[in-house]
Amino acid sequence: AAGDPAKGKAVFARCMACHATVAGRNGLGPTLAGVMGRKAGTVPGYTYSTAMKASAITWTPAAMDRYLAAPRTAVPGTKMIFMGLPLAADRENLIAWLATLKN
Ligand code: HEM
Repeated sequence: AAGDPAKGKAVFARCMACHATVAGRNGLGPTLAGVMGRKAGTVPGYTYSTAMKASAITWTPAAMDRYLAAPRTAVPGTKMIFMGLPLAADRENLIAWLATLKN
């Protein structure tokens, strides 16, 4: 089942303190503009953890689902201090919304 991007936009309230959705705007975390399909750890001008740069992840829906469920399990050593989203439906809706963000 595909997620609902309108519901996903509401879930993103939990990410907004650290992530912008506009290209070029990095905060505590890197911008998430264009994140789906991108190689992890590659936003220009943002200083990632060594773990994220070495992760060899490409942000497919499945990879994003694993990371958002348990960031520090999916990428041990990540500097993203976030407990994760325990509800699969929240992750699915959020991923559908992230897919609408373009660079
Ligand atoms: C990295 C998503 C919440 C701080 C990332 C990355 C993604 C992501 C996909 C990797 C980006 C890339 O490879 O370019 C999300 C989502 C969130 C969320 C969807 C909400 C559900 C947060 C929060 C914080 C945060 C609340 C701050 C407290 C960071 C940091 C990184 C990061 C510091 C860099 C990680 C590293 O280099 O190891 N986030 N994030 N994120 N995020 Fe989040």
